[in-house]
Amino acid sequence: MPVKTAKHKHVLVVHGPNLNLLGSREPAHYGRLTLKDINQKIRALAKTHGITVSFFQSNHEGAIIDRIQQTQVCDGILINPAAYTHTSIAIRDALLAMNKPFVEVHLTDILSREAFRHHSFFSDIALATVMGRGADSYVEGFVKLVQALKSQGHLSKIT
Ligand code: DQA
Repeated sequence: MPVKTAKHKHVLVVHGPNLNLLGSREPAHYGRLTLKDINQKIRALAKTHGITVSFFQSNHEGAIIDRIQQTQVCDGILINPAAYTHTSIAIRDALLAMNKPFVEVHLTDILSREAFRHHSFFSDIALATVMGRGADSYVEGFVKLVQALKSQGHLSKIT
């Protein structure tokens, strides 16, 4: 991971379970872009904002928690917890423990899907939640996170 300077911000992008299958996974819900395509979009956007970025995807809750716990040198996190959105107090606790600002994103609008997807363990502690815009959820979420990071110390909830 690159060394951070006072000006230079670093964002960690975390993708939860099954997002490695994007492109072929239920395209009617999740579209045809692959995770690589989405990461590429974020990488390009990060470059225009002068932000360094690293990516992590795992199908395992513990691996995601371990990665979040290693975030000492990152300034903020963009996360799609995928199905763990609706189940994982443990990932929520890891984010709270690290005390890093984060934005939650979802490709789909979880509030208009099955009832079991309506609750998120992340939305109340996220700077912002962006959902229902496909890959653009990541783009919008990334921009919101970067704006918050650049606003230095104004890391309050974005409404
Ligand atoms: C998701 C929505 C979740 O309910 C689902 O389990 C996912 C992806 C989304 O990006 O829309 O895996 O987080």
